[in-house]
Amino acid sequence: MNSTPNPNRRDFLKRSGSAVAAVSIASPFILTSKSAAADLPKIKVGLVGCGGRGSGAASQALHADKGVILTAIGDAFPDQLQKGLNGLKAEKDVADRIQVSPDNQFVGLDAYKKVIDSGVDLVILASPPGFRPVHMKYAVEKNKHVFAEKPIATDAAGYRSFIESVKLAKQKNLAVGSGFCWRSHLAQRGAYERIHAGDIGDVRTIYGTYNTSPPRTPIKREDGWTDMEYVVRNWMQFSWLSGDCLVEQAIHNVDLTNWAMKNEMPVKAIAHGGRQIRPEGGIVGNNFDHFAVVYEWKNGTRGFVTARQIPGCDNDNSETVYGSKGTAHILLFRGNPYITDLSGERKWRYSGPTPNMYQVEHDELFASIRAGKPRNDGEWLANSTMMGIMGRMAGYTGKDISWEQATSANDSVAPLADFSFNDKPPAAELPQPGKTRIG
Ligand SMILES: NC(=O)c1ccc[n+]([C@@H]2O[C@H](COP(=O)([O-])OP(=O)(O)OC[C@H]3O[C@@H](n4cnc5c(N)ncnc54)[C@H](O)[C@@H]3O)[C@@H](O)[C@H]2O)c1
Repeated sequence: MNSTPNPNRRDFLKRSGSAVAAVSIASPFILTSKSAAADLPKIKVGLVGCGGRGSGAASQALHADKGVILTAIGDAFPDQLQKGLNGLKAEKDVADRIQVSPDNQFVGLDAYKKVIDSGVDLVILASPPGFRPVHMKYAVEKNKHVFAEKPIATDAAGYRSFIESVKLAKQKNLAVGSGFCWRSHLAQRGAYERIHAGDIGDVRTIYGTYNTSPPRTPIKREDGWTDMEYVVRNWMQFSWLSGDCLVEQAIHNVDLTNWAMKNEMPVKAIAHGGRQIRPEGGIVGNNFDHFAVVYEWKNGTRGFVTARQIPGCDNDNSETVYGSKGTAHILLFRGNPYITDLSGERKWRYSGPTPNMYQVEHDELFASIRAGKPRNDGEWLANSTMMGIMGRMAGYTGKDISWEQATSANDSVAPLADFSFNDKPPAAELPQPGKTRIG
């Protein structure tokens, strides 16, 4: 944040309640500005996790607001950090606002603290999700606005911690942006507005599916790597770091299901899941490769979410919402959503603009901060994640899992602690329905 006094900051403090204002004085900045780009107060952004999504989010932050400068980045590994930074610098239209000095490039499992302590106003949290609750807690304690990629945790303890951070962020008037990008897709918004307005009647059943090939091939171990480095490099294969395929990837469908139910949490989950494919050379990690979850709400509505990461099968990623008067077809990557009546006749199809949803996500986040009303999407971001964890618990155990059981579980698969590369990674046994228990 540049240190030039800004009258808009005073305006904001006048508008705020005294308790919030007291916190905001110590917090980054809250400004409203319609000034020209050059006059815009700077918003210093830090990035934690310079992989595909983190770099993408940093680019979107830079494109969202001409006052954004990227001033600090951190990653567990130097090669990943460099790759992310090089990719960003190649974007000519924003390259002049990538102002990350060598002193502000941090490597290691504690890089997040150094990024957050480097003087940034907002931090993008895009490491593997097992680390997210700890990163989030530190960011909010240090009065930073946050953009948090989904999912935000991999277990119930992480969820509870994240929810506490979201509450604190609200008290401090800090933004919590959500990486559930489909909620920023204008076509899907158009469809969900109609669902919520009653165009398909009462929602009775929801079917979401994310059937695809495995998104990553395990990386071979190199000489000199500790066990922890090997696991963190292969984070997507380990449930404690990724949440498993339901929580890491098909969580988008869980969130779309949650959205159809206006963010009301289900009372129960029942699930099947397993590891069908056992590759030559053995399994890396302990993820399942398929899940089928049934969620039940207190009014009897059911939501079915299936996830499969097996090569050579037919793929689909879509969501269908069945109501008492019609059906909403949410095609996701296959075109614009539409609504049919009970006879199957098409009644509506989205025909408006479809800007990049990841960009919209950041445009709206930064606009809310500029307007002095930082949006906090943390609660549904966390609840959708927890709904996925609840489904995974039901799949791992073979037991029906209630929302209360899920959220109060002591299944700390990703300890809320700092790790070093010399620590032993948490246990990663393949779960066995009927035998595996949650705490
Ligand atoms: N919203 C979406 O559509 C979407 C798409 C892809 C990924 N994601 C999410 O974004 C997150 C990152 O996924 P990705 O595809 O970029 O993965 P990635 O593996 O490409 O990037 C993760 C980066 O984090 C680094 N890292 C690991 N541990 C770290 C730590 N403790 N501190 C700092 N950095 C650490 C890794 O070295 C890597 O560079 C995940 O939560 C993923 O689910 C969301």
